[in-house]
Amino acid sequence: VSGVGFQVHESPEALAEVVASRVLAAAQRAIAARGRFTLVLAGGGTPLRVYERLATSPADWSRWHLFHGDERCLPPEDRQRNSRAIAACWLDRIALPPGQHHPIPAELGAEEAAHRYAALIAPLLPFDLVLLGMGEDGHTASLFPGHALAQTGLTMAVHEAPKPPPDRVTLTPAALSATREALVLVTGAGKREALARWRAGDGLPVASVAAAAGAEVLVDAAAWG
Ligand code: 6PG
Repeated sequence: VSGVGFQVHESPEALAEVVASRVLAAAQRAIAARGRFTLVLAGGGTPLRVYERLATSPADWSRWHLFHGDERCLPPEDRQRNSRAIAACWLDRIALPPGQHHPIPAELGAEEAAHRYAALIAPLLPFDLVLLGMGEDGHTASLFPGHALAQTGLTMAVHEAPKPPPDRVTLTPAALSATREALVLVTGAGKREALARWRAGDGLPVASVAAAAGAEVLVDAAAWG
C-alpha cells in the first residue's frame, strides 16, 4: 500500500523489543557517521514499552538529541504531557546531558510553541529517525483526519483535536518526513479498523505521513486482525 512496508509481530512486547533494537542501531549509525543522533519521539501509550527498554540499554546518551512529534498543551509536569510520560519511564533514568531533550514548550500556548519549535528544528533537518503512533481514527502525531493540514511550516497549532486535550502542537508532514528513517508503531485490537482502512488505501493522515517518510510500519497480531 503506497510503498510502505508492514511487519507483523506476535505481541506488543516482541514489537517493542524489535523497535528498541532498531532505535539503538540507528543511533550507532548516526553517531558513527555524524557524531550525533537526532530522534523524534512518538507520544501516547504504544511506544512507552520501547522507551522502558531503552532505559536499561547500553547507549552513548551523550550523543542523543531527542525531539517530539507532538505535544499536548498542558503544564510541563502534567502526566498527560508526552514529554513528562517519556521522562518518567526513560529520560529520568539515564544520563542524558542537559539541553539534549527538547520538549515542545506547549505550556506557552500552541501558536507560540509551534513558532519556537519550528525555529529550533529547521537547521537540524533531516532527523535520523522519527517514531510515530497511530490513533483509532488514523491520526498520527496530532495530525487528525479532516483538520486542514497547514502544509507550509514545519509545525502547527492544533485546536479542537478529537483526542483530548483539544489544544496541541504537532510537527507537520513536511517535518515528519524530513528524516533518514521512520517507524510507525501500531498495537492492539482497537487499531484494527484504522489499519484495515490504511491497507485499503484510505487517505488517512498516518498513511500520507508514512508514505512521505518512507516509513516501515510495525504492527502486532491484534492490530493486524
Ligand atoms: C498523542 C500521540 C498520538 C498517539 C496516537 C496513538 O499525543 O496522543 O502523539 O498521536 O501516537 O494517538 O496513541 P496510543 O499509542 O496511546 O494508542
